[in-house]
Amino acid sequence: MKVGGFIGLASLLGHSVVAHPSAHSADHHHLQTRQNGGVVITTGAPGNVSPRYEIRQLQAQHSQQWSLFILAMQKWQAMDSNNLTSYYQLATIHGQPYQSWNGVGADAGCQDCGGGYCPHDIALFPGWHRAYLALYEQQFVAIAQQIAATYPSNIRQSYIDAAASIRFPYFDWAAIPPSGQDAIPTSITSPQITVTGPGGQTTISNPLYSFKLLTEIGIQYPWSSYNPTLRYPNNEPTNNAQSSETYVIQAFNKNQKSLQSQVYNLLTQCNDFQHFSNDNAGNSRSCSNSLEGIHNTVHSISGGYNVYDGNQYGGHMAWINVASFDPLFWLHHMNVDRIFSMWQTIHASYGASQYPQESTWTYSSKTLQTADSPLKPFRKDANTFWTTNTVKNWASTFKYTYPEFVDSKGDAAAIKSYANKLYGPSASATAGSSKRTTAPNPGSPNAATASAPASSGLLTYSNGSTVEYVANLHLPRYQLDGSWSVVLFKGTPVSENPAQWIFDPNYISTVGVPAMAGMKKNKALVSSSISFTKTLTDAFHDGKLANMHVNNVAPYLRDNLHWRIHGPNGNVDPASLKGFQIGVFSTSSFLQATDQLPQWSQYLPLIEATQGKPGGADLLSTIFNLEKLFSL
Ligand SMILES: *[C@@H]1O[C@H](CO)[C@@H](O)[C@H](O)[C@H]1NC(C)=O
Ligand SMILES: *[C@@H]1O[C@H](CO)[C@@H](O)[C@H](O)[C@H]1NC(C)=O
Repeated sequence: MKVGGFIGLASLLGHSVVAHPSAHSADHHHLQTRQNGGVVITTGAPGNVSPRYEIRQLQAQHSQQWSLFILAMQKWQAMDSNNLTSYYQLATIHGQPYQSWNGVGADAGCQDCGGGYCPHDIALFPGWHRAYLALYEQQFVAIAQQIAATYPSNIRQSYIDAAASIRFPYFDWAAIPPSGQDAIPTSITSPQITVTGPGGQTTISNPLYSFKLLTEIGIQYPWSSYNPTLRYPNNEPTNNAQSSETYVIQAFNKNQKSLQSQVYNLLTQCNDFQHFSNDNAGNSRSCSNSLEGIHNTVHSISGGYNVYDGNQYGGHMAWINVASFDPLFWLHHMNVDRIFSMWQTIHASYGASQYPQESTWTYSSKTLQTADSPLKPFRKDANTFWTTNTVKNWASTFKYTYPEFVDSKGDAAAIKSYANKLYGPSASATAGSSKRTTAPNPGSPNAATASAPASSGLLTYSNGSTVEYVANLHLPRYQLDGSWSVVLFKGTPVSENPAQWIFDPNYISTVGVPAMAGMKKNKALVSSSISFTKTLTDAFHDGKLANMHVNNVAPYLRDNLHWRIHGPNGNVDPASLKGFQIGVFSTSSFLQATDQLPQWSQYLPLIEATQGKPGGADLLSTIFNLEKLFSL
């Protein structure tokens, strides 16, 4: 009742993004502590270090853990919303309904604190989410263990053993999907799922497909009406809207190649933590994209837009403040953390200091954040919080790891070879195939490569370097008063209805910009990047491009490259969006050995690809902004 009263207050304040919890946090702390008999410490999973498997690997190779995973999600989602460790409560930490969790209120004296706890556009991004996932995983494992103990006695012990090493899976959206499968597994996109429960085989509503909020108190419109969680809603929020699975599947299929290149470039080119970690780190010689930037696009293509008129509100994943209610959030972020751990193993740089672009529930935009700043609300013990520095060693700290680290020596050379074979231009391994027994040796292409278009010769210079063309974008993240996307096309889209774009024959890919309404005073200009490799090889195979030489590619992109901006209130003229800019560059990578990083060449601008187009870089802006805008 008292907690409900607090939530009611939060909902009143919640209509504006900036709420001021400080006056109420002490009272709230008291209530939470009393109701739950103590505070929750983030410890991570119990037991020995065990791998978080790729979701397809978990389903195919660990059937008992798979059933426990699905049944634990079902049980957890049904748990009382007021319970501090319910699925609902853990999801509220990220954003709405903007309430204190575990008694952690704003810093004393914080004048501008508001929104959720999650840090974005700042170097705290990877570490904060690592602690968040550790808390999430510890609750998940506890429930899986409870379920294991309910199996019939003749098989119970094997389920108890399976639960002892269970970890939450990740969804690798960047690697090539297993042969013949869509880029997003059906276990995420099917409304129903069949597993082996304590009573035998059972078909249930799939807890990875959606989450039904048992209370919507304090959740703002339209998400108060979009319940269960949705992806590409097919109707007005006031009606019975449903997810549009064909759109989600299409979006992941169409963006996988671009995400693959982005992850490769991130792992092999970004060598300082600041630029690697977040989309608001300014210019860098080697890194114009970031872990956060890539992660943003996955959010946008997961939640999408509404399908009935192509604009207004899309699904939960596309909005920072409600994304974590969708079960896909957790599968996605486990992969983000895995990329973080791979990057850490390859590069020495760790931790950075940065002023926040915006305040959160617990820190002010005026306070410098460092690798020793508390990652609130995740308690290391009763009196301290985890920090970027203390979450550094994921395995020893939180008792999880990833298959790449247990199926190899797990050192820098081994992880570099995984980066090359999973994400490189001649990647041969498929998502979840890290096992020595199922993955090819580095450099020996498997069947997937043999049946792929014979384009590797096309993409290789005579000196052995691989050609790459990219678009780098600068995005005024909060200026459209909500989430938005840039959609790139090879030719003009057939229709100006954004709902149709991912099915357009000329669609290339999407750059997602998840945001919230009411943040226009935040002037963040964030960076992102996409690759044209697949577009250009397709153009070659269609006879539209003679070869990959810049003398052919520049005029091809001049004649064919178009982009559209799709905002929360309809389409936006890119020329009218202050700060938006897109520029195209060529580069190349040379791989000396499969367990080394490639050597990248300079980025050279292709001015004619964008000059004269709305928001496109031209000669002047390229000359004046080369350093500043395009991270050369
Ligand atoms: C919250 O749920 C956990 C796990 O089911 C349970 O042990 C605990 O007693 C619950 N707390 C409250 C206050 O209901
Ligand atoms: C290979 O040739 C290309 C095209 O001339 C050049 O841009 C690149 O830097 C060269 N790579 C190496 C490793 O020399």
